[in-house]
Amino acid sequence: MKEIITYSPDRIPVDKSLPGLLKGQKALVTGGNSGIGKACAIALGRAGADVVVNYFRGEDAAIEVVETITAAGVRAIAIQADVSNEAQVQAMFKQMIAEFGTIDILINNAGLQKDSRFEDMTLDQWNLVINVNLTGQFLCAREAVREFKRRGVVKDISVSAGKIICMSSVHEVIPWGGHVNYAASKGGVMLLMKSMAQELAPARIRVNSISPGAIRTPINTDAWQTPEAYSDLMTLVPYQRIGEPEDIARAAVFVASDMADYMTGTSLFIDGGMTLYPGFASGG
Ligand code: BGC
Repeated sequence: MKEIITYSPDRIPVDKSLPGLLKGQKALVTGGNSGIGKACAIALGRAGADVVVNYFRGEDAAIEVVETITAAGVRAIAIQADVSNEAQVQAMFKQMIAEFGTIDILINNAGLQKDSRFEDMTLDQWNLVINVNLTGQFLCAREAVREFKRRGVVKDISVSAGKIICMSSVHEVIPWGGHVNYAASKGGVMLLMKSMAQELAPARIRVNSISPGAIRTPINTDAWQTPEAYSDLMTLVPYQRIGEPEDIARAAVFVASDMADYMTGTSLFIDGGMTLYPGFASGG
């Protein structure tokens, strides 16, 4: 008969919240050479994890991130791979496992925008965004899950067998004209994440998303680089400031850690209130 668990066998001591929260864990951050991915890679390293910094273009930037992380006393390596290419993803995981032994944390972060008016959007623009933002998350998550299941729980390292954080967006719920490929990809990420979380929970694998609002990164310079653009952006942000990559990175460390054990299938919105329908603050 199946054992019925009537209590939590894995109570997390509070001292796990101290620095070293991710000590001994091995993390992979896709698109870890810039923007949100870079901040996450550095923050995971500061929390004690060894980190693979994946990049597609921008080797110098990836090496800089590796140097910043290793200065904190943990290991880091840069691995080039296109997350939408199955063979390259599999080669990246093979290399990571050869060098680090395993993987405990995947930050499925790599993503891009190819914006266009709907009627002018080309099939190439559509496919590129879906391939990188959605299929890329599937391919990396699948390789991570294969390793999580092979290895199982190692209690001294973490009470779960593995953690996946999908970098989503407020646009998994906010429709976005002029960006239908991007919004469709993030809507897809939402149910990819939730369906994986449902299927993998019995194996003690936690899958969650972080859904950032407007964060100051190279993906959206148009939205914050001029005072006019910034003031337009603020009409969408009740908290009245743009997000910084570190706002997301702090949450990534928490969600990846055993502090967030029992959290699975959740989209954590970190958006200064962008999803609170700011237009309704007056009126309606
Ligand atoms: C997009 C940014 C945008 C933000 C808020 C993000 O997912 O990549 O370009 O500024 O959502 O709209």
